[in-house]
Amino acid sequence: MGIRIGDIEVVAPVFLAPMSGVTDLSFRKIVRKQGPELVFSEMIASREFLKTESLSVRKFNTNFVEDYPLAVQLAGWDPEDMALAAKINEDRGATFIDINMGCPAKKVVKRYAGSALMQDLNLAKKIIQSVIKAVNVPVTLKMRTGWNLDHRNAPELALIAEREGVQMITVHGRTRCQLYKGVADWPFIAQVKGAVKIPVIANGDIRTIYDAKECLELSKADGVMIGRGSYGRPWFLNQITKFLETGKIQEAPSLDEQKLVLIEHLDYMLTHYGFQDGAKLARKHIAWYTKGLPSSGEARQKIFATNSLSALITEVNDLYSIATEKMAA
Ligand SMILES: Cc1cc2nc3c(=O)[nH]c(=O)nc-3n(C[C@H](O)[C@H](O)[C@H](O)COP(=O)(O)O)c2cc1C
Repeated sequence: MGIRIGDIEVVAPVFLAPMSGVTDLSFRKIVRKQGPELVFSEMIASREFLKTESLSVRKFNTNFVEDYPLAVQLAGWDPEDMALAAKINEDRGATFIDINMGCPAKKVVKRYAGSALMQDLNLAKKIIQSVIKAVNVPVTLKMRTGWNLDHRNAPELALIAEREGVQMITVHGRTRCQLYKGVADWPFIAQVKGAVKIPVIANGDIRTIYDAKECLELSKADGVMIGRGSYGRPWFLNQITKFLETGKIQEAPSLDEQKLVLIEHLDYMLTHYGFQDGAKLARKHIAWYTKGLPSSGEARQKIFATNSLSALITEVNDLYSIATEKMAA
């Protein structure tokens, strides 16, 4: 069931995707509580990371003993910056260094970082070589299928990466130009799998347990990576792992259990960021956890208006009590 990445065995073939603004330490902790799946950090811009002890560092202020195993994802266009940032993160305790060659954001690709590197395989190779030379931990790479539908060169980039010593490839089954439109092409990922011997992880649009199974079948990948499907349900990854292991569906937690997970998640966030910033950052998570619950829209506004942890928890409790009553009626 597990996957060997370099000399490290990860126990489940289901990974939490790197997601800026989502997979911070609090979210990683709450996902880890549900099961043993490998988690990725948010993308860290290597140049900013080296230049300043500001936001990306504060957001990435982690405890590597507790936050283990962790793939730290770096983005950048300068091989030296990338190597230095990789080395610092290795020294701090990163289990893996993941190189981002998939980010489609304009501000990233205009500097020839993220998915733009799929248009410049020479620079991509230099970055890979430089990072691999700098660290001893396994280096992994996340990419898209290519820049656009006429240039889907993920198999070529994967082969270059493997030859340089990259130990695992993740492919989001869309091109850069597709951004998040259309659907992820799981069968195309099989071409990447066919090109290399290292593990390949398939990513994109896995929203149900059955999607995960179908994606594995079509992509022939060694594992799956889950991004948006984990919003408001950090237990989803472990449900997939259990299903792949046993063929049996593990039900989602009861509403009451879900509430406790949310409260714990909020506690992590407010402790890490302080009430003011934490409550603001937590809004989207609260909305995801409670989406579709009866009367939740109104109750969420009350939650967002609170100014202390105890008031916030009272309102969360109220939201779930009202929802439970309405669902039982
Ligand atoms: C809010 C958000 C932030 C993301 N940030 C990153 C990132 O920092 N690094 C990265 O490689 N991919 C990032 N992605 C892409 C995801 O890792 C993933 O490849 C993509 O969402 C497709 O998977 P999904 O359909 O399971 O969400 C982000 C996606 C979203 C929605």
